[in-house]
Amino acid sequence: MHARDTIHIEKPVRIPLIVGNWKMNKTPSEAAAFIRDLLERLTPSPKTDVVLTPPFTSLESASKALGPSSWINLGAQNLHWEQQGAFTGEVSASMLRELNCRYVIVGHSERRMLFGERDETIQKKVRAALVQGLAPILCVGESLAEREAGKATSAVTAQLDVNLAGLAQQELASVIIAYEPVWAIGTGRAATTEQAVAVHQSIRSFVEAGWNSTTAAAIRILYGGSVTPQNAESLLASEAIDGALVGGACLNPDSFATIVRIAQTRRA
Ligand code: 13P
Repeated sequence: MHARDTIHIEKPVRIPLIVGNWKMNKTPSEAAAFIRDLLERLTPSPKTDVVLTPPFTSLESASKALGPSSWINLGAQNLHWEQQGAFTGEVSASMLRELNCRYVIVGHSERRMLFGERDETIQKKVRAALVQGLAPILCVGESLAEREAGKATSAVTAQLDVNLAGLAQQELASVIIAYEPVWAIGTGRAATTEQAVAVHQSIRSFVEAGWNSTTAAAIRILYGGSVTPQNAESLLASEAIDGALVGGACLNPDSFATIVRIAQTRRA
């Protein structure tokens, strides 16, 4: 049969994305050593995007260790929504761009809980990132109490409702959503694949209802929360899960490389 004989419905290809969130770990020299080690363990593949998010202070050394036009991208863990000004202790999107960042994590639950970030502030950060050409990795997720009350999905969509408010379709196309249930972060208790898939599907439906089906089909939704080399295979096997936001397991080059390789060979 010839290609023209078949009715071909284009399915958008969502390239898996594995993000290592280093949190407050690794000095500049430790970052460089880690990256040299990681690069030896991995082979680039068009089938998976990889992003490392070191602390601000290690971005420059990480960028140098990756080298120019590296296949591994850099991101930051936070940003301020203004471009510059009297905001002691803050860092803007343009500063991150100059350090070769392409991505930035926004609204991580640790920022929400420990540093009082509110949904409205997170929305401003998402916008600021987009204006400067950074892809925001927007984190959302329910607390244990919300899950136990049967409100996991409504808690997540309530966050998205504010965090993504007013974005045009082209803007949303650059956003990555990371579903990180708070009870799964750093606890060793990852969501089951079924639990993650259920919330991912409701996030995709939320995007479809608010924008359209093309955007919903194209947006990447990552899972985060106690992802390990042991559970990555099952999580990434699902078509609903487009990658992982990895915390603890990304600090060890062997375990992070294993998770990246699992993504690279997924449904191969
Ligand atoms: P853990 O993988 O350590 O649970 O952390 C997840 C996380 O918060 C990534 O942003």
